[in-house]
Formats: sequence, C-alpha cells, structure tokens
Amino acid sequence: MKGIILAGGAGTRLYPATLTVSKQLMAVYDKPMIYYPLSVLMLAGIRDVLIISTPFDLPNFKKLLGDGKEIGMKFSYKEQAAPNGLAEAFIIGDKFIGNDSVAMILGDNIFYSAGLTGLLKQACKTKKGGHIFAVHVPDPERFGVVDFDKSGKVLSIEEKPEHPKSNYAVPGLYFFGPEVVKEAKNLKPSARGELEMPDLCRKFLNRGELKVTVLPRGLAWLDTGTHAAMNKANNYVQIMQEMTGMNIACVEEIAYRQGWIDDKRLDATIEKMGKSSYADYLRRIEREASKLEQTTDDYLHANR
Ligand code: G1P
Repeated sequence: MKGIILAGGAGTRLYPATLTVSKQLMAVYDKPMIYYPLSVLMLAGIRDVLIISTPFDLPNFKKLLGDGKEIGMKFSYKEQAAPNGLAEAFIIGDKFIGNDSVAMILGDNIFYSAGLTGLLKQACKTKKGGHIFAVHVPDPERFGVVDFDKSGKVLSIEEKPEHPKSNYAVPGLYFFGPEVVKEAKNLKPSARGELEMPDLCRKFLNRGELKVTVLPRGLAWLDTGTHAAMNKANNYVQIMQEMTGMNIACVEEIAYRQGWIDDKRLDATIEKMGKSSYADYLRRIEREASKLEQTTDDYLHANR
C-alpha cells in the first residue's frame, strides 16, 4: 500500500496567518501540522509516500521532509497546479500509485486514539474498492456527510450539505484499490468546479464496493479549519503530551519503534533538533528503548 498526503489549498480561512506559509507547515503545538497525518500513514505501516502541494509551498515541504531517509521512509513530491479538488490527487499520483492500493490523507487532519493502529491495519487490507471512515460531529454541514440506515447500510454521501442527513462526517482519510485512478479521471467537476471526494466515493458505493467504518467514541479527530479550532488542537496536543509523557505524532519515535531507523540515525536527528523539548523527548525514547516492552505504547502494542 502506498500513501498520499495532500497538503494543497490556499488556507484562506486562516488568513493572515497563512498568507506566506502553508497551513500544513504551521505548528500544532510543537511540530509541523503535516507530521500528524504523516504519523497516521506510518502507523498503518506505509513507507512510500507522495506529498502533493502547491507550486509555491512544495519547496518548503521538501526542505522539511527531504527524501524521507531520516525516518526510514521514501518521499516523493508533486505539484497541484491549481485548486481543482481533493480527488485530483489520484490523477496527479497516477504513476506513483501504479498497480498498488493507496491511502490518501489530508495534510490538515489529526487523528489520535487508543486502537487507531488496529483500524488502520484493517483498512490497509483494501485491495479493491474503497474504505472510508465516519465520525460523529456537532457541525456536519462543514464536511462530507455520510448517512446510514438502522442496519448501518450507507444511504448517501454528500459534500457540505446545507441540510445534513446525519451527524456523521467523513474525515480526510481514504483507502482505495488501484482502480481509483481511473475513477478519478472519469469524475466531473462539481458546481464549485472541483473534483470532490464524496463524488468519487459514491462511484464505489453505487456498485457495493465502499466500506465505511464508524470511528469509536473517544477517538479525537481534530479540525484545524479555523483559528479557534487550531487553538483547540494546540491545547489538546499539549494536554495529552503533558499528561501521558508520550508525544503525539513524533515521526522519529514511530520510525524508531518500528525498527525503521537505528540509534545512529536517531542521534543525528536529536543533534539537528538543538535545544528543543522535541530533542529531549527523542533522547528519552532512545534511553528507554531497552524497556520498550513495558511502555504503554498504543502505537505498537495495543492491537497486536
Ligand atoms: C474536505 C472534504 C470533506 C471532508 C473534509 C475532512 O473538506 O472535501 O469531504 O469531510 O475535508 O477534513 P475541506 O476541509 O477541504 O473543506
């Protein structure tokens, strides 16, 4: 399975903060926002990732993440020349996807919960068709919305409906078989001129090839679409990290615990992180490595 992180868009809802810097490069508490979706792909076990952004922002993503070797990953990069919609990612990623299945995650989506790794591993089994998720939210009109009947059968998927049929939003994490490229190429732009994810999902739904998993209560799906939401995400990450002594979305930690990087590589990153608390955390992770099995680490242990 390959991975795509779509980190495009002008971020106009966060102006003036995002006038000169991509939203997905802004910090959520102590690390760039893109680390959070990247960590989700890593927890799913995906190591080959295409990062898509605007021609203006792409150089900065390259500067931040490089070729991926520092965290045992392989990164490639492609531009989305104009905001033609999220589903265009599969057209831009055509060659990258090839005959593989693919997970696409939006660069501003933050997921955190116990049990997440198990859900991801399940979705990674997708060889054909699609697998998406649904989260209960108070304000579904801001998202893609999925409606179910009593038995859990999906009735509809709509993009930002004025009158939502349910409170279940579709978060920005989608798994598909390789045929998604052809399906994306056959999509027609919506009224606002974009290739929409719900339209793409509906193609799979109509032929009974779309699985929708409702995410459990207690799973945090954090929105970063407004200044207030950003601030809440900052606070959430700070509180969780301080309460548990475990960092959220520390990509070096995930790579280290999965055995994708060794001490030497981790040391190089620690050096690079200077006098930051992030460096202190990595130092502790390395020191405690011998006691790894005793840590309460959902990342790797909860779903074995
Ligand atoms: C996009 C999708 C929407 C999805 C949301 C999740 O909206 O179009 O279907 O629910 O991401 O974050 P956007 O955030 O681009 O407005």
